[in-house]
Amino acid sequence: MESSNIFLLLSSLLSLLIFPSPPTAAAQLSQNYYSSICPNVESLVHTAVAQKLQLSFAAAPGTLRLFFHDCFVRGCDGSVLLAAANGDDENHSGADLTLSPEAVDTVNRAKAAVDGDPQCTNKVSCADILAIAARDVVSLTGGPYYQVELGRLDGRVTSKANVKHNLPGPGYNLDQLNAVFAANGLTQTDMIALSGAHTIGVTHCDKFIRRIYRFKQPLAFNPPMNLTFLRQMRQICPLNYNPSTFAMLDPATPFKFDNAYYQNLQKEMGLLASDQILFTDQRSRGLVNWFASNQTAFEEAFVAAMTKLGRVGVKNATEGEIRRVCTAVN
Ligand code: HEM
Ligand SMILES: *[C@@H]1O[C@H](CO)[C@@H](O)[C@H](O)[C@H]1NC(C)=O
Ligand SMILES: *[C@@H]1O[C@H](CO)[C@@H](O)[C@H](O)[C@H]1NC(C)=O
Ligand SMILES: *[C@@H]1O[C@H](CO)[C@@H](O)[C@H](O)[C@H]1NC(C)=O
Ligand SMILES: *[C@@H]1O[C@H](CO)[C@@H](O)[C@H](O)[C@H]1NC(C)=O
Repeated sequence: MESSNIFLLLSSLLSLLIFPSPPTAAAQLSQNYYSSICPNVESLVHTAVAQKLQLSFAAAPGTLRLFFHDCFVRGCDGSVLLAAANGDDENHSGADLTLSPEAVDTVNRAKAAVDGDPQCTNKVSCADILAIAARDVVSLTGGPYYQVELGRLDGRVTSKANVKHNLPGPGYNLDQLNAVFAANGLTQTDMIALSGAHTIGVTHCDKFIRRIYRFKQPLAFNPPMNLTFLRQMRQICPLNYNPSTFAMLDPATPFKFDNAYYQNLQKEMGLLASDQILFTDQRSRGLVNWFASNQTAFEEAFVAAMTKLGRVGVKNATEGEIRRVCTAVN
């Protein structure tokens, strides 16, 4: 055996000892997956994402939400990015109609930056680029920075039908929220922590209009809303609202990734019923209060839950590919 081979063998054994993969990680994911394939991938993505955020803050919440919707529909496989010629893609189904074009642009810019490095061209999956970008928008808006697991492959399948019942809706109660998260291996704690993503970004009037006016057909449930806040929301969304009108999900600090989301819920200032129910329901209120009082506890739980989210339905080399263009299968 050549001495260089012995060195490689020894160093890989050593790295196994020093960096044991966490026991619950999806088999093929690791934090240093691209260390020899494209060592600069994370700095290339970070620079592209930071530049995009300078142009448009909306890219931050948009990218975070895009990652969530990717992972909950057929796993974290970049399928949410696919654009089918006949329009039968995830992007054109109900819940995904308001996905942010700025987020798609963020991923495309990051992909171009990665592919611009000759060592990396067509070697990094769009699913991984999205996972890195989602981590980066969190830290760039003031949230925690964490090591992101990599090694996902891109799926080849997209369809409107795949979205139905896989994504939670704004009118979901706690049991419904828990069910859709449990279907992805996530606990109620994960769900409450991930809902903290609503500390940035927007929601359109149609998602909460029935909470602020009396309609003939009442909602299945309508958790209480702060009266002052309700009046403000009526100003933003009159009954004849324009469909493109939106309100901030976290009215207190809409551009900062912090735990104000949970403090809002304590004041009955959760805009979506699915947000406010986390405080109204006794089974989840304790954790909302804990995250509201302890930013570190929220951040730790959020990072743990994002890591679990990133392992959902990961595809291997038989089931997936490295897409050349994120919007189309090879
Ligand atoms: C718990 C169940 C959840 C429900 C019912 C839900 C529902 C929604 C709804 C209805 C909107 C507004 C869409 C619009 O009107 O444009 C929204 C926005 C958003 N969601 Fe969620 N979501 C949930 C969980 C999550 C999770 C787990 C994440 C990420 C980890 C996330 C990240 C976001 C972000 C960042 C926005 C703002 C998007 C933007 O400004 O472009 N959500 N969500
Ligand atoms: C969804 O489609 C619209 C146009 O129909 C496009 O602008 C947008 O980039 C697409 N978004 C995703 C996530 O593919
Ligand atoms: C409603 O919001 C105001 C202002 O944020 C706050 O002082 C008050 O305590 C809230 N009311 C309830 C019932 O939480
Ligand atoms: C906040 O949470 C962190 C992480 O769980 C914990 O170490 C710390 O003791 C908590 N702080 C307080 C004041 O309880
Ligand atoms: C990928 O996963 C599928 C389904 O679990 C399995 O049949 C196949 O052997 C795996 N391929 C590789 C290369 O691991």
